[in-house]
Amino acid sequence: MKNKHRRRLKPIPFLILVLVLTIFGFLIYKGVSKKSPTLKKEQQNNIINKLSKLDYKKDEIEDLQDELSDENINFLVSKEIKRDDFIDIYNDKYYIDQYMTKYIEYKSKHNDYSSREIVERVNTHADEAFYTNTEASNEKLDKFVIANKHYYLSSSYTAPDLTEFDPLYSLYGATYKNELSEEAMSHFIELFNQAISEGYGIKINSAYRSYQTQNKLYNNYVSSDGVKLADTYSARPGYSEHQTGYAFDVRNVPNTKDDFEDSKEFDWMQENAHKYGFFLRFPKGKEEITGYQYESWHYRYCGIECATYIHDTKITFEEYYEYFIRYHNPRNIK
Ligand code: DAL
Ligand code: ZN
Repeated sequence: MKNKHRRRLKPIPFLILVLVLTIFGFLIYKGVSKKSPTLKKEQQNNIINKLSKLDYKKDEIEDLQDELSDENINFLVSKEIKRDDFIDIYNDKYYIDQYMTKYIEYKSKHNDYSSREIVERVNTHADEAFYTNTEASNEKLDKFVIANKHYYLSSSYTAPDLTEFDPLYSLYGATYKNELSEEAMSHFIELFNQAISEGYGIKINSAYRSYQTQNKLYNNYVSSDGVKLADTYSARPGYSEHQTGYAFDVRNVPNTKDDFEDSKEFDWMQENAHKYGFFLRFPKGKEEITGYQYESWHYRYCGIECATYIHDTKITFEEYYEYFIRYHNPRNIK
């Protein structure tokens, strides 16, 4: 047996060895920790001097040092980014530090854009062509899950509480199986009842659509209209929020041939949907951000606080998602 023949270290020399190593370790530690505050101070002063030369004001420098990552501060200094090329971007309400270098790069190519336009486009990936650099959506976010021309869902994803709902709420009654997240549906029922009590009729036309259903739908649109046009109004399979079970299309009842936008129910939804946790997903004027033409009928559930925020501020869900959900900027969203 090998172990039997292994020589054992005698206890005294072993203890001396441990003691010597401990003393060495301690001295090295002291040396480093004594050096680092001075080094840090020097680095900080160097940064302050360089940022002053780039025209940043004293209080701005302090603020930047508190708020920006070390990497981003070093970027400002090493690339000599002047105050005028950055401070308005930094002061934008939805500035996300993780996108700092992208803002600066985008601004250098689009100097005519306002800082709001730059931040909005970069935050929402509108600085990239649609369906390029796509990423898998975080499917654990339930009512905050996103699908768009940047984030895709796996073919099996649906809301965890997807449930078939009562035909009473469906435009086609019992002839068509309609499903939605149970949480979203319970809020829709409240909306439906309140609308009726005020003399408005609102029913769900199309709600959950599986990956396979969206695939068929999209391919039919492509056959009749071509890819370019189909992409303006239909999501490709895996990219539709109908697949989540948190989105649906509404119609006014009794149903007329008019556009939903021309109905009194449309106005009522604009005024009230957010009180039940719903918001208009593809608003007018935000086509370059959402990637779709305006849809007056397509609503999305994300909870009352989120929907009210989107209703009041008019930011897109794209931007809301990046700022509050993906990068956890300072707000408690329920
Ligand atoms: N009409 C919307 C964009 C969809 O297909 O999901
Ligand atoms: Zn829709």
